This record gives sequence, structure tokens and C-alpha cells, in this order.
Amino acid sequence: MLAGLLLVIFGFLGQNFFVASQTTNATCDAAHNWAFNSKKQSPCQVASALITVCTGSYEVVALPIDSHYAGPANVQDANPCWCNSVVYSLLAECGLCQDRTITMWSLWEINCPSVSDSSFHCLYPQDCTFPAGPIRM
Ligand SMILES: *[C@@H]1O[C@H](CO)[C@@H](O)[C@H](O)[C@H]1NC(C)=O
Repeated sequence: MLAGLLLVIFGFLGQNFFVASQTTNATCDAAHNWAFNSKKQSPCQVASALITVCTGSYEVVALPIDSHYAGPANVQDANPCWCNSVVYSLLAECGLCQDRTITMWSLWEINCPSVSDSSFHCLYPQDCTFPAGPIRM
């Protein structure tokens, strides 16, 4: 009985963990601690969690020197997560906090059939704790 209950609870949590899972091997400079959210997640971790909503899982890989995160490479790669200015802002800050560069939103969204500006629909609101700084909502 207890085991069954635990299984059910774990089933629910499992879904949450799936959405909440964020993977990145990018390390943010301590000078950018202000860009971490209240759960102490880096902008790179939060971006990964948001992109996961569209793609199932997504690792934000650390940027090589002199490079930046870019928007969808073609229309087929475009989805509501990549074509979202919150994700753009988070990945821009994720680049800056690694001492790398950024690209402009106008270039980022070039392959997006439509864009969502300044909001992100969170399946599980607890997974979408945004840093107050870099995001204009
Ligand atoms: C991050 O992960 C990617 C792919 O898994 C790897 O190619 C890259 O070398 C890693 N970078 C660092 C700084 O660990």
C-alpha cells in the first residue's frame, strides 16, 4: 500500500524532474552571480530547462572562446522555445557570464516563423524561476 503510494508520488515527481532537469557544462564567472535566479540556478541552467520544454532534453554546452549562442540555424530547427526572447536573453547572459560574446535578437530570430516576446509559457511554474536581472518581462 505504502509502496504503491510512493510509486504514484514518484510518478508525478518524475514528470517534474524531467521538465526541471537542466544540463549545462558552462560555468559562469562569479561576477555574474546577480544573473542567477532565487534557486541559485545559472542563466545557462535556466535556459536549458526552458529549451527542454520543447525538445525533451537539451544541454547548453560551454562556449569556445570568441563565440556566442545562435538562434535556430534553419526554419526546421525553429520552435517556440528557441524563438522566444526570454530564452534568447538567458543564453545571451549565459554567454556573457562565460566571458564570451552575444548576437543580436534580430539575427537570432531570422529563421523563426513567429516569435514570442518577453514571455514563456511554463508547464510547471516552479521550474521557471527567472533571474530578475537580464529578463525584461
Ligand atoms: C562541454 O560539453 C561538450 C559536449 O558534451 C564538450 O564538447 C565540451 O568540450 C565541454 N566543455 C567543457 C568546458 O567541459
